[in-house]
Amino acid sequence: MSRLVSVIERELTLEFVRVTEAAAIASGRCWGRGDKIAADDAATQAMRKMFDTVNIEGTVVIGEGEMDEAPMLYIGEKVGRGKLPLDIAVDPLEGTNLVAKGMTGAITVLAVAPQGCLLHAPDMYMDKIASGPAGVGRISLEASIADNVKALAEALHKGLADVTVVVLDRPRHAHIIKELRQIGTRIKLITDGDVSPAVAAAIPGSGIDLLLGVGGAPEGVLAAAALSCLGGEFQGRLWPENEEDEKRAQKLGITDINKILTMDDLIKGEDVIFAATGVTDGEFLKGVRYYGNTATTHTIVMRKASGTVRFIEAEHRIDKKGRFITV
Ligand code: FBP
Repeated sequence: MSRLVSVIERELTLEFVRVTEAAAIASGRCWGRGDKIAADDAATQAMRKMFDTVNIEGTVVIGEGEMDEAPMLYIGEKVGRGKLPLDIAVDPLEGTNLVAKGMTGAITVLAVAPQGCLLHAPDMYMDKIASGPAGVGRISLEASIADNVKALAEALHKGLADVTVVVLDRPRHAHIIKELRQIGTRIKLITDGDVSPAVAAAIPGSGIDLLLGVGGAPEGVLAAAALSCLGGEFQGRLWPENEEDEKRAQKLGITDINKILTMDDLIKGEDVIFAATGVTDGEFLKGVRYYGNTATTHTIVMRKASGTVRFIEAEHRIDKKGRFITV
């Protein structure tokens, strides 16, 4: 059997877990305080600080915005203290509103890969479809909603009424929700945070089978990175709202804005690591719990090269590593 030569040493896996854990502990404190900016800042600062301890020379390719828009983890920023050149996609807090409003489903998330292996997605919308391995070769953004759900139901050996589809509750999705109701599937409407349910669609026992609809394009790349590790399916098509969006895409080298972006367009090669830590309880991750001097976290971390999926529960001594998790 040929062995895959991985540029990203597997030992780094735990280093990336530390990064998402720190962001989760810092931002989880903002739960229900009604301040999504404070929650996002807390996650971003903790993530940034922890990256400085990791032995890589990372370049943020998906982050908090352009250099003039974000003080840290902006696109092009260098992170890490080593020499291994890697591209980094981050969403320090995916679901800022969920934290601000004291709701479930928020995560801190990152994906890393060798340079040029993650699509540099513009900050605009993307139409998405995501499922677990059962959907590979069976679902498509080109097919109708009914055909996709039927194909997936058949592959999962389920009736249509037992398929659970997640959709962001937005007016732009009224037609999707209407069609799903006509078909008779179960629908989970979410207010924010479509990365977590896209990943959940490939996690046995999560209760989620499919994600449909338009959300952020950067979030789409993060979801695709996770699904590439899990053997799931993801397709995206940019959803420009105006000419400015189209120009932004062109600037990043995307010439055909209507192209359906497949897994191979979004994530190249086998050398991908994805990590996400629950900030608040979700479909497959528990949120952070605080116990005075300690806090517990729940993280998923995966390596595409080996196919290993790890769930890591950790107890952290806040007094010993406070400088990384307080802002
Ligand atoms: P935050 O950036 O505030 O965390 O929001 C994330 C998110 O809910 C994504 O999960 C989703 O893809 C996108 O925003 C949806 O955008 P909109 O709220 O504009 O419909």
